[in-house]
Amino acid sequence: MILMNDQFLSREQANVDMEDRGYQFGDGIYEVVRVYHGASFKMDEHLTRLARSAKEIRLTLPMSLGEIKEKIVELIKRNNLKDGIVYFQVTRGTAPRIHQFPSNTTSVLTAYTKEMERPMKDLLHGAKVVTTEDIRWLRCDIKSLNLLGNVLAKQYAVENNAKEAIQIRGDIVTEGSSSNFFIVKDGSLLTHPANHFILKGITRDVVEVLATELGLPFVEKEFKLEDVYQADEAFLSGSTTEITPVTQVNDHKISEQPGPITKKLQEAFEKLI
Ligand code: PDD
Repeated sequence: MILMNDQFLSREQANVDMEDRGYQFGDGIYEVVRVYHGASFKMDEHLTRLARSAKEIRLTLPMSLGEIKEKIVELIKRNNLKDGIVYFQVTRGTAPRIHQFPSNTTSVLTAYTKEMERPMKDLLHGAKVVTTEDIRWLRCDIKSLNLLGNVLAKQYAVENNAKEAIQIRGDIVTEGSSSNFFIVKDGSLLTHPANHFILKGITRDVVEVLATELGLPFVEKEFKLEDVYQADEAFLSGSTTEITPVTQVNDHKISEQPGPITKKLQEAFEKLI
């Protein structure tokens, strides 16, 4: 079943209009929420971020956040999803193609669920990442449907046998193509400040809470590739990535095994989910 506005439809019934602005302009926003044992993880936080993204692009949501939540929870139930994700997006609606906002359109909400296993191999053994230039626009804080920069970055990672591409703007390390990036140095966690250059991840926020509980300093500060090479540990965070240890960056080995602080955070995260 697929959710289209307030209707539950089969995949065949749920058609995207050629002139949906999400399709033609990427004029919309989205969220990906993890589902564990049939229950969504941090749904309210994702909805709050959806509302913020909507406000930033001046898009009116088709219903209240409470109603969106109700529909999505029902979709998870109807699809009998146990472990996976629910994806939902809102576009500015369907109208003849003009660049400016069309008048008299209503935004379109669509959602679907997908079974997905946890990335156990990477969680246990760590992953390799590569770095690439951050060519994205200057509002990466908005979870926009425009993901071409992210798509190209991830393709670069895949072609270089890496799990993720860490993007670098100028000489500042920003984030992964679909995850946030952290380094650990002398017992402190370092990550890019939550400004316009990164998405403020919900999992990143969870890491902040866990770090505080564990007495680990959570430092939002710009850093460079040379700092990454000198880091004691590194990891990624994201809804599908969870807390994935990074053991190699380009040709540089950070560590043979996931580091002890990363493991502590992973254990605390495991208890939460
Ligand atoms: N991506 N940074 C970027 C660019 C992202 O696309 C994501 C999430 C994150 C992590 O955010 P969160 O912890 O809220 O999932 C950071 C989702 C999973 C995706 O596009 O599939």
